[in-house]
Amino acid sequence: MRPLHCHSSRNNSRAAGGPWSARSLALALLPLLSLLSPTGCASSTEQDGVSLLKFLQGLSQDSGLATSWRNGTDWCTWKGITCDADGAVTEVSLASLGLEGRISPALGEMPSLLRLNLSLNSLSGGLPAELLLSRSLLALDVSFNNLNGDLPELPSTFAGQGRQPIKLLNVSSNQLTGQIPPLTLAGMTKLVTLNVSNNSLTGEIPSTICARTPFLSALDLSFNQLNGSVPVNLGRCSALRVLKAGHNELHGTLPDELYDATSLEHISFPNNRLQGALSAERLAELRSLVVLDLAENGLTGGIPDSIGRLERLEELRLEHNSMSGELPPALSRCSSLRTVILRSNGFHGDLNSVDFSTLPRLKVLDFMDNNFTGTVPESLYSCSDLTALRLSSNGFHGQLSPGIGRLKSLRFLSLTNNSFTNVTNALQVLKSAPSLTTLLIGANFRGEAMPEDETIEGYRSLQVLSLADCSLSGEIPRWVSGLENLRELFLSSNRLTGPIPAWLSGLSLLFVLDVSNNSLAGEIPTALADLPMLRSETTVDDDDDDGGSSSQSAFPLPVYMAASLQYHRANYCPKLLNLGDNRLTGAVPPEIGRLKGLTQLNLSFNSLRGEVPQAVGNLTNLEVLDLSSNRLTGKIPRALESLHFLSYFNVSNNDLDGPVPAGGQFCTFPSSSFAGNPGMCGPMLVRRCSAASVEAGLPAPVRDAGLCGGDVVVFAVTFGVFVGVGVLYDQMVLSRYFG
Ligand SMILES: *[C@@H]1O[C@H](CO)[C@@H](O)[C@H](O)[C@H]1NC(C)=O
Ligand SMILES: *[C@@H]1O[C@H](CO)[C@@H](O)[C@H](O)[C@H]1NC(C)=O
Ligand SMILES: *[C@@H]1O[C@H](CO)[C@@H](O)[C@H](O)[C@H]1NC(C)=O
Ligand SMILES: *[C@@H]1O[C@H](CO)[C@@H](O)[C@H](O)[C@H]1NC(C)=O
Ligand SMILES: *[C@@H]1O[C@H](CO)[C@@H](O)[C@H](O)[C@H]1NC(C)=O
Ligand SMILES: *[C@@H]1O[C@H](CO)[C@@H](O)[C@H](O)[C@H]1NC(C)=O
Ligand SMILES: *[C@@H]1O[C@H](CO)[C@@H](O)[C@H](O)[C@H]1NC(C)=O
Ligand SMILES: *[C@@H]1O[C@H](CO)[C@@H](O)[C@H](O)[C@H]1NC(C)=O
Ligand SMILES: *[C@@H]1O[C@H](CO)[C@@H](O)[C@H](O)[C@H]1NC(C)=O
Ligand SMILES: *[C@@H]1O[C@H](CO)[C@@H](O)[C@H](O)[C@H]1NC(C)=O
Ligand SMILES: *[C@@H]1O[C@H](CO)[C@@H](O)[C@H](O)[C@H]1NC(C)=O
Ligand SMILES: *[C@@H]1O[C@H](CO)[C@@H](O)[C@H](O)[C@H]1NC(C)=O
Repeated sequence: MRPLHCHSSRNNSRAAGGPWSARSLALALLPLLSLLSPTGCASSTEQDGVSLLKFLQGLSQDSGLATSWRNGTDWCTWKGITCDADGAVTEVSLASLGLEGRISPALGEMPSLLRLNLSLNSLSGGLPAELLLSRSLLALDVSFNNLNGDLPELPSTFAGQGRQPIKLLNVSSNQLTGQIPPLTLAGMTKLVTLNVSNNSLTGEIPSTICARTPFLSALDLSFNQLNGSVPVNLGRCSALRVLKAGHNELHGTLPDELYDATSLEHISFPNNRLQGALSAERLAELRSLVVLDLAENGLTGGIPDSIGRLERLEELRLEHNSMSGELPPALSRCSSLRTVILRSNGFHGDLNSVDFSTLPRLKVLDFMDNNFTGTVPESLYSCSDLTALRLSSNGFHGQLSPGIGRLKSLRFLSLTNNSFTNVTNALQVLKSAPSLTTLLIGANFRGEAMPEDETIEGYRSLQVLSLADCSLSGEIPRWVSGLENLRELFLSSNRLTGPIPAWLSGLSLLFVLDVSNNSLAGEIPTALADLPMLRSETTVDDDDDDGGSSSQSAFPLPVYMAASLQYHRANYCPKLLNLGDNRLTGAVPPEIGRLKGLTQLNLSFNSLRGEVPQAVGNLTNLEVLDLSSNRLTGKIPRALESLHFLSYFNVSNNDLDGPVPAGGQFCTFPSSSFAGNPGMCGPMLVRRCSAASVEAGLPAPVRDAGLCGGDVVVFAVTFGVFVGVGVLYDQMVLSRYFG
C-alpha cells in the first residue's frame, strides 16, 4: 500500500508497488479524496486522472476521445496516454486528432508529465501559464493550432530560479499576439529549443535572450511582426546552432556580437529591414555555418574574402539586397556549397575570378539581375550536380561553350537578357545537356537568324522554351516539331516570317504558344484547333512525364514575370494562344471554338477579315479575348455573353457594326473595348442604338434583360475581374520579362 502525498514534493517519491493496485486505490478513493484535498494535495496518480478529465471537458470537439477516456477506467490505457512503471502519466500525445476547444490549465498539474503534444489540432484560447509553470514538463508542443492571446508572463519570482525543467517549447503556427515575455524566457533556464514562429508576435526580441538560457540551441522567431534590432545578447548563446528570425520587421545592422555565437550552423533573417555589411573581419569566426540566409533586406557591401573559411557552408542566400562588389575568389574554397542565390543585387565583375571546379556539390546558382560581365566560366561546367543555373539580366557575352553539355543534371537554364551571341551554336551545344527542362535564352542573339538546322534535335525533356525578344529572322523552325515534351513556347518579338506551321498541332503537350510581334503571314491554320492541351480543360501534371529525369518541377527556381509575380511551377501558367501583331490574313477559323481550355486568346494587330465566329462563345474558360486592330465585320455574336470569366475584351479598330451585346460581362467593358468601329452602337458608345438596330439583334432571354446590377451577374463580374487582373498582368509582362 503506497502512501498518499502532496504532488508539490519535487521528487514525486512513490513507494514500490504494482501500478495497477495503486491506480485502483486512487480510483476507489477518488470521491473521498476530492473532499479531503481542497488544496490540491492528493495522490499523484489520482491527480493525473482528474487533470485529464478536466482537459476532456474543455474540448468542444473531442473527435471520439471520450469513448476511450471514460471516467472510472484506467487512464494508462486511454488513447494517447503513456504511463511509467509506477502508473504515473508521463506523456500525453494527441497530435492531429481534430481536437477543438480550450487547453485546460489542469494539464499543468500532472506531477509526472514529461511530454505534452497537442500539435496539429484546432485548439483555441490562450496557452495556460500553468503549463509553463509545470515542475515536470520537458517538452510542450502546441504548434499548428488556433491559440490566441499573449504568451503568459511568468511571475518575476520564477526568473532564474532554474526550477522550470522545460527544454522544448513549440508554440509555432498559432495566432499568438503580444510580446515575447522576457521574464518567461528568463524563467525557462533549461530551454534547448524555442519555436514561436508563424504567430503575430510584436515588439522586440527580448534583450535578455540567452542571458539565462545557456543551453538554447534552436531559436525560431520567424514569421511574426517583431521589430527593433537584433539583440547583441544573441552572441552569448554559446550553444545556439539554429537562429531563424526571417519575415519580421527587424532593422539595424547584424551586431558584431553575433559573430561570438560560434556554434551557429544556421542563420536566417530573410525579409527584414536589416542594413549594413557582413563583417569581413569576423565572418570567418562562424566556422560551423551551414546556412546563411539574409535575403530581402537592405544589406550593402560585398561578400568578404573571409567567406572562404566557411568550409561547411552549403547554402548562401543574399537575394534582393543592395550588395555590390566582385565575388571573392575565396568563394571557391567553400567546397560544401550547394545553393548560391545572389539575385537582384549590384554585384559586378567577371565570374571567371571564381574557380567553380572546387565546388562539386553545387546544385542551384542564381545570379539573375546583377551587373556581372564577361563570359560564363568554363570551370562551372565541371559542377555535374548543377540543376538550376540562372544568369539572366546581367552583362554576360560570348558564345556558349560545348562544355555546358557536361552539365548532365541541368534542368533549368536561364540566360535571358544578356549579350550572348550565335544562337545556332547555343542550340547545338545545349542539346547535349540531357536533362534540360526549361530553357530561357531570350533577349540575346539580337538580329541573328533563327537556326533552321535539322540537326538541332535531342531536347527530349524540354518543356519550356523561350527565344523571345531576339529580333531573329527566318521562319518558325521545323526542329521545334521534334520537341515532344514542349508545353510552353515563347517566340514573340522576333522578325519571323512565313506561315504559322500546321505541324505545331503535333505538340501534344503544348498549352502556351506566344508568337506575337513577328511578321508571320498567311491564314491561321485550322490545325491549331487540334492542339490537345488547349482543347482539354485539364492541366498537364508537372511530374507526369516519360523522361524519368524530369520527375521534379520544371521550375526549381521561381520564374519571375514581374518583381512581385512569380511562377513556382510551369503548369501554373495560363493556357494561351497569342498570335497578335503579325500579318495574318483570312478569317478567324470557327474551329477555334474547340480550344475549350484556352484562358487567353490574342489575335490583335493582324489583317483578319470576316465575322467573329459564333463558336468563340464555346471558349467558356476565356479570361482575355483581344481581336482588336483587324478588319473584322458583322456583329459581335450574342454567344459571347456566355463567357462568364471574360475580364478583358477588345474588338476596337475593326469594321464591326450593330449593337454591343447587353448581357453577360458586356456591361463591364469600357467603351475603348469597342472604339474605332464606326458602325457599332451601344449605351457606352457615342452612337446610341436605334430601336430598329436593337430589334435586329437576337431576342434576349428574359433572365438576361437588364441584369447588369443583378446578383448573379455581379458575382460573375467580381470573380472575373479578380481572376482577370492577375492574368492580364502576367500576360503584359510575360512577353517582355521571362527571367
Ligand atoms: C468521475 O467520477 C467521479 C466518481 O464517480 C465523479 O465524482 C467525478 O465528478 C467524475 N469526473 C468527471 C470529470 O466526470
Ligand atoms: C508532436 O506530434 C507531431 C505529429 O506526430 C510530430 O510531428 C511532432 O514532432 C511531435 N512533437 C514533438 C515535440 O515531438
Ligand atoms: C515543434 O518543434 C519541435 C522542435 O523544433 C519539433 O521537434 C516538432 O516536430 C515541432 N512540431 C511540429 C508539429 O512540427
Ligand atoms: C518551427 O515550427 C515551424 C512550423 O510551425 C517549422 O516549419 C520550423 O521548421 C520550426 N523551426 C525549427 C527551428 O525547428
Ligand atoms: C503558418 O501557420 C498556418 C496556419 O496554421 C499554416 O497554414 C502555415 O503553413 C504556417 N506557415 C509556416 C511557414 O509554417
Ligand atoms: C515596434 O512595435 C511596437 C508594437 O507593435 C510598436 O509600438 C513600436 O512603435 C514599434 N517600434 C518601431 C521602432 O517600429
Ligand atoms: C550596373 O552597371 C551600370 C554601368 O556600369 C551602372 O550604371 C548601374 O548603376 C549598375 N547597376 C547596379 C545595380 O549596380
Ligand atoms: C535587362 O538587363 C538589364 C541589366 O543588364 C536591366 O537593367 C534591365 O532591366 C533588364 N531588362 C528586363 C526587361 O529585365
Ligand atoms: C556559330 O556557331 C556555329 C556552330 O557552332 C559555327 O559553325 C559558326 O562558325 C559560329 N558563327 C560565328 C560567327 O562564330
Ligand atoms: C517587337 O519586336 C521588335 C523586334 O523585332 C522589338 O524591337 C519591339 O520592341 C517589339 N515590340 C514590342 C511592343 O514588344
Ligand atoms: C495582344 O497582343 C498585342 C500585340 O502583341 C499586344 O499589344 C496586346 O497588349 C495584347 N493584348 C493583351 C490583352 O495582352
Ligand atoms: C460549340 O458548341 C456547340 C454546342 O456544344 C457545338 O454544337 C458546336 O459544334 C461547337 N462549335 C465548335 C466549333 O466547337
